Amino acid sequence: MELIFEKSQAGRRAGRVPSHGLPVPEVPAELRRAQQPRLPELAENEIVRHFTNLADRNFGIDTGFYPLGSCTMKYNPRVNERVAGLPGFVNLHPHQEDEGAQGALELMWELQQILAEVAGLPAVTLQPAAGSQGELTGLMLMRAYFADRGEGERRDTIITADTAHGTNPASVTMAGYKLEKVATTDRGNLDLDDLRAKVNERTAGLMLTNPSTLGLFDEGIVEVAEIFHSQGALLYYDGANLNAVVGISRPGDMGFDIVHYNLHKTFSQPHGCGGPGAGPVAVREALEPYLPSPQVVRDGDTFRLDHERPKSIGRVRGFAGPFGVFVRSYAYMRAYGPDLRAMSETAVLNANYVLARLKDVYELPYDRLCMHEFVLSARGLKKEHGVTALDVAKRLMDYGIHPPTIYFPLVVPEALMIEPTETESKERLDHFVEAMTRIAAEAADDPALLKDAPHERPVRRLDEVKAAKEPIVKYAFGERPLVEAEA
Ligand SMILES: Cc1ncc(COP(=O)(O)O)c(C=O)c1O
Repeated sequence: MELIFEKSQAGRRAGRVPSHGLPVPEVPAELRRAQQPRLPELAENEIVRHFTNLADRNFGIDTGFYPLGSCTMKYNPRVNERVAGLPGFVNLHPHQEDEGAQGALELMWELQQILAEVAGLPAVTLQPAAGSQGELTGLMLMRAYFADRGEGERRDTIITADTAHGTNPASVTMAGYKLEKVATTDRGNLDLDDLRAKVNERTAGLMLTNPSTLGLFDEGIVEVAEIFHSQGALLYYDGANLNAVVGISRPGDMGFDIVHYNLHKTFSQPHGCGGPGAGPVAVREALEPYLPSPQVVRDGDTFRLDHERPKSIGRVRGFAGPFGVFVRSYAYMRAYGPDLRAMSETAVLNANYVLARLKDVYELPYDRLCMHEFVLSARGLKKEHGVTALDVAKRLMDYGIHPPTIYFPLVVPEALMIEPTETESKERLDHFVEAMTRIAAEAADDPALLKDAPHERPVRRLDEVKAAKEPIVKYAFGERPLVEAEA
């Protein structure tokens, strides 16, 4: 498909605005462009066709099944968009004074209350813009807490699991902590002996996903919490996998002191291709004074942004946070009501259904009931037929299915991490199982078919390393003549 720049014809225009007859304002010479900007020049219908054809090539949750493990690609109800588009929300200026933004502040306050209930922790900040920023915020809170207690210098280490998402060690390093990893047992739990050997007076805390990135609930979580708390250290809950436990178990009850939520995952936001997200953070009472400023607070029947927070770590994001995401999440929570628990139960049921049907087709390294997702291995296919997890993923695209997450978590060779979510029907799940089963048979009968996949998509197999290392982010018009734009 041609780029829009390649379709450009000098002098073509999409439309002409009738002459207004008003004086043209003078642009100061130092701000004036020396040359016209080089932009594609096309008729309006060609622009519309170009972008419509591009959109048709796209794959999203609205076009098909998207079992991308750890990303919770659930259906995003349209009512959320209707509500987020209400004029009172979209036209609200970020600098609006509190009295004129009572509805928005009330929504944020209510959202904080629901999130606090979900986590089992009393205080919430809505500011962080993503899970990863929630992680960094949580670690900054730990730092502020220990500094206040005179333990800031001593506590210099954070422990993460060897199954941890890449953002965990990245956040730890960014927050200035040393990183230590704890091993996973054959059952997929944290190795308690390894943990006991590593946790000491230098430990600031643990950063853990539960259920883990293996899709397994840690059976020793109460002991894990005890090991850290007995040394005065804190527990951070990476809430990326919260979709498995809402209304069933609460991180605060498990012993976690700080929790982030990925609103864009658990509470439904369209979040492929980089945005928008939100990573609110909840904390125990002892950490509340350090939460970012401002906080949304309630005084009787009115709501306001509280900037008087002397111990706060300060702002972590502009204004009050990603407000549109708050509206969608709030709408989603209110639509479910107490049935949020059913959301998680169905997510877990769907994952276990698919797991039960695929565990004899692919290798299952941790043979347990899973939570909302599970990890298979294509190690057997690789050994016997030279077919890798990447080949399986690419072939799935020919069946109209988005590939699962692959090669993560790192502890599973040739990993295929599958998260069906609660919003898929049994027919969709069956279609996925059949596709995966047929692909396993194809790997034995015709491995070349998988090596060349995808065959049916507009774009075939890409050189992903070259694309990442040598991205072309600008188009040069080359020798095309520059035509003065019409007045
Ligand atoms: C387990 C886990 N932790 C943290 C994150 C980071 O969340 P975000 O992408 O919102 O920054 C992710 C994202 O996929 C994740 O899967």
